[in-house]
Amino acid sequence: MAEVVIVSDKEEAGRIVAEAIARRVHARPDTVLGLATGSTPLPVYESLRESLAGADVSRVRGFALDEYVGLDPAHPESYRSVIAREVVEPLGLDPDRVHVPSGALEGIETAGERYEAAIAAAGGIELQVLGIGTDGHIGFNEPGSSFASRTRVKTLTRQTREDNARFFDSIDDVPMHCITQGLGTILEARQLVLLAFGEGKAEAVAGAVEGPLTASLPGSAIQLHPRATVVVDEAAAARLRYADYYRYTYANKPEWQRI
Ligand code: GLP
Repeated sequence: MAEVVIVSDKEEAGRIVAEAIARRVHARPDTVLGLATGSTPLPVYESLRESLAGADVSRVRGFALDEYVGLDPAHPESYRSVIAREVVEPLGLDPDRVHVPSGALEGIETAGERYEAAIAAAGGIELQVLGIGTDGHIGFNEPGSSFASRTRVKTLTRQTREDNARFFDSIDDVPMHCITQGLGTILEARQLVLLAFGEGKAEAVAGAVEGPLTASLPGSAIQLHPRATVVVDEAAAARLRYADYYRYTYANKPEWQRI
């Protein structure tokens, strides 16, 4: 089972996860980070500005989870733009070392394979940051995704397109397809850190952490990972059956056993 950390707010979650990332960067300046988009990881990236201040980040490498297919990479909501704006530029990372899957229509048939090869060539991902969709998706692995899946093109559900319509002028502007690391790809990262905030995520979080392993709730794949941490606020933790135990465990966690 994943370790669950229940925090009072997003800022606290951001600080805890940013510190964990900064420790990896200090220990290994060319560490490979798995980067998520969406609104959830933003407090982590904000906190990282402080946690990484003064650190040499010139060799840090990164791989985004996913990208829209057919959206101009220069569009402000392409994940390439989001990662550049929220992560690469504010933290001063080398843009050539931070990768986003290509959603360009030309060459899309081989884009997944090429992305997998780039991750493997980097020696794999050290710490993968994850959010979760209201339908339980991680990356863009919609319900039904195989636990063995690799980076590939998927069709977004109506629900995900509705959820993400807030970033576009209307739902019609949200692309229909995406390219995403597979659940099998994500499970190969050496550590997973999934964040979720707000009551809208409570059901997905409970399913991912305590529900049965099922492709119907792709986030439940994290239960297969030996080192997965879930950082949630009280609202997102509201449906967790063992919330008291998680609080008790975290309060009594040995100092050396940090996330
Ligand atoms: C998006 C992303 C996911 C993200 C999820 C939740 O569709 N592809 O990586 O985790 O949906 O988004 P948010 O964090 O904005 O709630």
